[in-house]
Amino acid sequence: MARAKIALIGAGQIGGTLALLTGLKELGDIVLFDVVEGVPQGKSLDIAEASPVLGFDATYAGTNSYEAIAGADVIIVTAGVPRKPGMSRSDLLDINLKVMQQVGEGIKQYAPDAFVICITNPLDAMVWALQKASGLPTNKVVGMAGVLDSARFRYFLADEFKVSVEDVTAFVLGGHGDDMVPLVRYSGVAGIPLPDLVEMGWTTQAKVDAIVERTRKGGGEIVNLLKTGSAFYAPAASAIEMATSYLRDKRRLLPAAAYLSGEYGLSDLYLGVPVIIGANGVEKIVEIALDANEQAMLDKSVASVKELVAECQKIAPGLA
Ligand code: APR
Repeated sequence: MARAKIALIGAGQIGGTLALLTGLKELGDIVLFDVVEGVPQGKSLDIAEASPVLGFDATYAGTNSYEAIAGADVIIVTAGVPRKPGMSRSDLLDINLKVMQQVGEGIKQYAPDAFVICITNPLDAMVWALQKASGLPTNKVVGMAGVLDSARFRYFLADEFKVSVEDVTAFVLGGHGDDMVPLVRYSGVAGIPLPDLVEMGWTTQAKVDAIVERTRKGGGEIVNLLKTGSAFYAPAASAIEMATSYLRDKRRLLPAAAYLSGEYGLSDLYLGVPVIIGANGVEKIVEIALDANEQAMLDKSVASVKELVAECQKIAPGLA
């Protein structure tokens, strides 16, 4: 059977890491696209030259032309600029919105049957814009944020309990911002919910609260350390997990920014919610019960996402 074709739009820090991971996991052949000449070509050749040593088979093509993504099965979008010091959220939104419009056009023309995963920030608004610009079905366009935010939560919890990361499950919902909603009740170790672990005396509420706060600020923590860019290893790994679930029809239940049409009482909005990803893309949006406190946190997060989308609609009225 022919290998799947994976197109990576954006050959920066995350794009390059995605290209390597896609090969290592043998998910398919890779097309790496960027507007900068030479970068996708150079990174593609460099990784292809690593393949004999690492022991995987995949072809790599670096390109500056959208034609090369024709017929892609999966597209992962990281094109755009990361937020730099002195840049307002609106500046970032303005620049990346224009990038999403270009990328959406390219996908619409050359790969309308692809499953598209958006990573570009501000995520919840950019994935909304990308779906509108590409015109692809809403179940085939998702945003990657929840897997990353939950992975950070899981890592911090595993460190606190000194257990394997494999035994820690965690759920983070809502928008990909400081007011995301780490769901303590739905997170725990080997099936034991966090509130029970507090009651058992294995940790304290104060420590759990601190971990929740650190998770919320997880992106900023990395930016402050790196100074010249934002996180890329964990975001790339998270998108690969989503792509794998689609390509292998694994039906993983993962938190992702999905298009809501009535779920959680919301419409025409992308928001981080639990979804099942299988061969048909987003196959199900899972509506979990929230208590009053969780609902209030989600409402706050929704308000931030709505504000960003309204800003997009103001800049590009044609998208709505
Ligand atoms: N089309 C295609 N690629 C573009 C375009 C465009 N219109 N504009 C910029 N790019 C490319 C840049 O040339 C660069 O190679 O997108 C790439 C972005 O890479 P980095 O700047 O290294 O950013 P990265 O760390 O990969 O993050 C990408 O993901 O997490 C988010 O906030 C982050 O929005 C950012 C995105």
